[in-house]
Amino acid sequence: MNVRFVERGMLRDLTAYRSTEPSSAGKNAAIAYDLSSNELALPPLPTVLPVIEEGFARLARYPDPAARALTGEIAAHICVSADEVAVGPGSAGVLQQILLALCGEGDEVLYAWPGFDAYPLLVAMCGATGVRLPLTASGGHDLDAFRDRVSTRTRVVILCSPHNPTGTVIDREQLHGFLDALPDHVVAVLDEAYVEFERGGDPPGLPEVLRNHGNTVMLRTFSKAYGLAGLRVGYAVGPRQVMATVRKTALPFGVTHMAEQAAIRSLRSEAELRGRLAAVAAAREELTLGLRELGLPVLPSQANFVWLPLTSATEPFARAAATAGVKVRACPEHGVRISVGEAEAHKVLITALGRTDRTQWS
Ligand SMILES: Cc1ncc(COP(=O)(O)O)c(C=O)c1O
Repeated sequence: MNVRFVERGMLRDLTAYRSTEPSSAGKNAAIAYDLSSNELALPPLPTVLPVIEEGFARLARYPDPAARALTGEIAAHICVSADEVAVGPGSAGVLQQILLALCGEGDEVLYAWPGFDAYPLLVAMCGATGVRLPLTASGGHDLDAFRDRVSTRTRVVILCSPHNPTGTVIDREQLHGFLDALPDHVVAVLDEAYVEFERGGDPPGLPEVLRNHGNTVMLRTFSKAYGLAGLRVGYAVGPRQVMATVRKTALPFGVTHMAEQAAIRSLRSEAELRGRLAAVAAAREELTLGLRELGLPVLPSQANFVWLPLTSATEPFARAAATAGVKVRACPEHGVRISVGEAEAHKVLITALGRTDRTQWS
């Protein structure tokens, strides 16, 4: 059937999020371990599971559209007031709300590249133009390049720390200097999806940055350290005027009751969380060591994944991993990101790589 319709111009060159793999790496391989999406290889925290089960009985009901209980809990947890918090269906959902609220056609959004695959899509959805700024040689944000590229058209600058896919963090002093120098018409979004993994579970304080910079919004999620990726819940913290407008672009009932309750309980389970963060950090260091012993370049990471800047050897590496049954994330021409996963997955990967002809990626 010949369907007639007009797609919005901004969408024409885009494909839906991960509807196709960006790389041909290992398309036909049987995958036993998925280390490609930075998920936690563990179930939700033990105290959180019963809360999720209790939620089944209430599934016929809509959730609280404002998720007030969770908003209040987050506010108390990080010492801000509830009107400085906006929750949504994952931090990707909240970022979409922010961009819809702040940007439109003719506006520009700056972000580092390679970066989180959803950024280009979310920017295009609001009609704005994405500007990709290359990472430094050591996989960090080039803040000078960001500063130089800010113009009257810039509405939002997205900074990601720890950065996906490299695991690098933005130095706090440099961050403060950068935020200080941003013109008033620009909002900085600091994406901290992986912040709990930083410094072995002792991440830098959040309100300190917010208090000092009125133009800054921070994004956090329950998907990563808390292991609730499947429930879809994240939040933003920022100036109350910005949060008020961000709430207007929310999908009605976007955060389910189950997700809200699970997130509340997760925040009350700090001790359990800390144990997990330490285990993830130890597993990450082991994985890094194993890969380095094979002569592979691995950047020091502060997140639950590691980055190998393999450039043109990216695809052969990802294919070798897939042949061994391990799916990794290949960013063609840039490198490979490997999530910290099950000990067995690491073992299978390292053993298989050890047997592979490594000249193809050296
Ligand atoms: C940097 C970054 N930000 C945000 C997200 C979105 O996470 P979620 O929407 O599950 O909160 C991800 C997910 O991989 C990510 O890597």
